[in-house]
Amino acid sequence: MPTILITFTPPAPALDLLRKSGTVVGPEDWPTHLPRADALLCLLNDRIDRPLLERAPRLRIVANAVVGYDNVDVAACRERGVVVCNTPDVLTEATADLAWALLLATVRRLPQAERSLRAGEFRGWTFDGYLGSDLAGRTLGILGMGRIGRAVARRAAPFGMRVIYHSRTRLSPGEEGALGAESVDWDTLLAASDVLSLHAPLTPETHHVLDRAALRRMRPGSFLINTARGALVDEAALTDALREGPLAGAGLDVFEREPEIHPGLLSLPNVVLLPHIGSATRETRTAMALLAARNIRAVLAGEAPLTPVLG
Ligand code: DGY
Repeated sequence: MPTILITFTPPAPALDLLRKSGTVVGPEDWPTHLPRADALLCLLNDRIDRPLLERAPRLRIVANAVVGYDNVDVAACRERGVVVCNTPDVLTEATADLAWALLLATVRRLPQAERSLRAGEFRGWTFDGYLGSDLAGRTLGILGMGRIGRAVARRAAPFGMRVIYHSRTRLSPGEEGALGAESVDWDTLLAASDVLSLHAPLTPETHHVLDRAALRRMRPGSFLINTARGALVDEAALTDALREGPLAGAGLDVFEREPEIHPGLLSLPNVVLLPHIGSATRETRTAMALLAARNIRAVLAGEAPLTPVLG
């Protein structure tokens, strides 16, 4: 029986499938089992790098049970013939829902209002209390028109928002028409978005794509929403842009050095902070784990992986 090393305990349906496919070891002291692992089930906070791969000479597959794979050294896996899989599609809708929930919470200042009520400060309706901003007629900018970016764009029409986007790959005219989305260059995206939502993967090219200079070029009074990866944004520069402008607010589900949060962000009143919960629904997390387990089963059986990043 092949050995399947797990760095976390997946939901029961996925664990059952893994147990049918091999001998499951971990998650306690999981690195000690690397020398006999044929498959690895892991998460975004497990760094799968060269030194780790050297300790796992039998490894045939790394099944990262999330969609992003910036934690995996894909080139090092390629050199060793190790298949790398992620979990696209199954988390798209949950993550797009959360992006919109965070967008609405940020623009309408929901956590601030709720905190104030709980603190006993609600003394009855007032004309000018707890004011947020309108969305209808405003422009939603999307960086990265992959699956999640497109699902976020699809939700914009009922809010009356115009959608512009900037992406490595341009959509077909048909897709643009269906989404009502217009492709623009990076400078236009920054200057024209009332709300800018990030959906690009983290790569060396996108690291700090929102650096100090880019943040300065954002539209005065605009909002930034990040449910992708924290390191797309220079958090120190973001703190200054929220304090001194041009940004009116930010909604962040991801951070540069999770679980650390930049102290400047924690002290600002115009930021909504969430603990990386984009895909955190029971159904979606089960689907993610199951897809990762199916990839492991396929590769160990000598079949093609279902969702390879690197086949
Ligand atoms: C991912 O899948 O990459 C998320 O960040 C966790 O859902």
